[in-house]
Amino acid sequence: MNTSRRNVVITGAESGIGAACAKIFGEAGDHVAILYHSDAQAAEASAEAVRQAGGTAMTVQCSVDDDRSVDAAFAEVEKACGPVSVLVNSAGINMSGIPVRDMPTPVWTRMLATDLTGAFLTSRRFLKGWAADRPGAIIHISSIHAEAVRAGGADYCAAKGGLTNLVRTLAIEEAPNNVRVNAVEPGMILTPMNERALEDAAYRKSLEVNIPMKRAGKPEEVAYLARWLASEEAAYVTGACIVMDGGLSLLQGVGA
Ligand SMILES: NC(=O)c1ccc[n+]([C@@H]2O[C@H](COP(=O)([O-])OP(=O)(O)OC[C@H]3O[C@@H](n4cnc5c(N)ncnc54)[C@H](O)[C@@H]3O)[C@@H](O)[C@H]2O)c1
Repeated sequence: MNTSRRNVVITGAESGIGAACAKIFGEAGDHVAILYHSDAQAAEASAEAVRQAGGTAMTVQCSVDDDRSVDAAFAEVEKACGPVSVLVNSAGINMSGIPVRDMPTPVWTRMLATDLTGAFLTSRRFLKGWAADRPGAIIHISSIHAEAVRAGGADYCAAKGGLTNLVRTLAIEEAPNNVRVNAVEPGMILTPMNERALEDAAYRKSLEVNIPMKRAGKPEEVAYLARWLASEEAAYVTGACIVMDGGLSLLQGVGA
């Protein structure tokens, strides 16, 4: 593992998978910019976890669905510590649970703006500021719902499905420039996005029974894969969308 210090930007880093990524990149001694949406206190806790792990950290507010906010956040990071080498985009919102026939347009557009346009805006801004004298890596936190659809999840499945082809297109565009672009597709991970499963053990177990490994994943497990994808050990990996779900998506055709 390449442990030389890099400047790493992580969106949605005040919670869940993003916060775990911050800590795990901190363990590698990196400088981590915690981009947060609205909870400055949680962002500071993430930054402190990075410092405790051996890295350095700063916090910056950023709404990934807003072009100017993304630009301002990256500019602040670059001014403080120089060019960014790694982007982990973990910002996202959960599916609405509303069937398409009833889905209000703002629900659809908010999802696309956050989970798909946010990935586009952060990737584009990363590439604008990237210094060509070093390898670059972009890792998007996607979902198994990029591949396996669920009724009531058209907003989320469409956004994450679109993200797959954003990753693949970016990968071939940026391969000659030494920037690798990949995604992780987690299944059920115990984060605030799965609030009920976090707080209600019986409910959690009723879901975990459907997972071949019989347990939900931990945010740190996603973070270790993200860190590997950003490392020199993954130097030949680009355009990959790697499923991490305890085997859940392998059961797509089972049951009828
Ligand atoms: N938890 C799971 O089971 C699971 C499974 C598959 C994929 N994912 C994906 O992982 C990513 C992280 O989710 P999580 O589980 O850590 O959930 P989480 O709710 O703990 O974290 C999501 C983060 O995104 C931030 N965010 C939301 N809207 C934003 C915006 N407009 N601009 C900037 N930040 C914004 C939130 O503030 C929060 O910090 C998401 O993209 C999600 O789709 C999660």
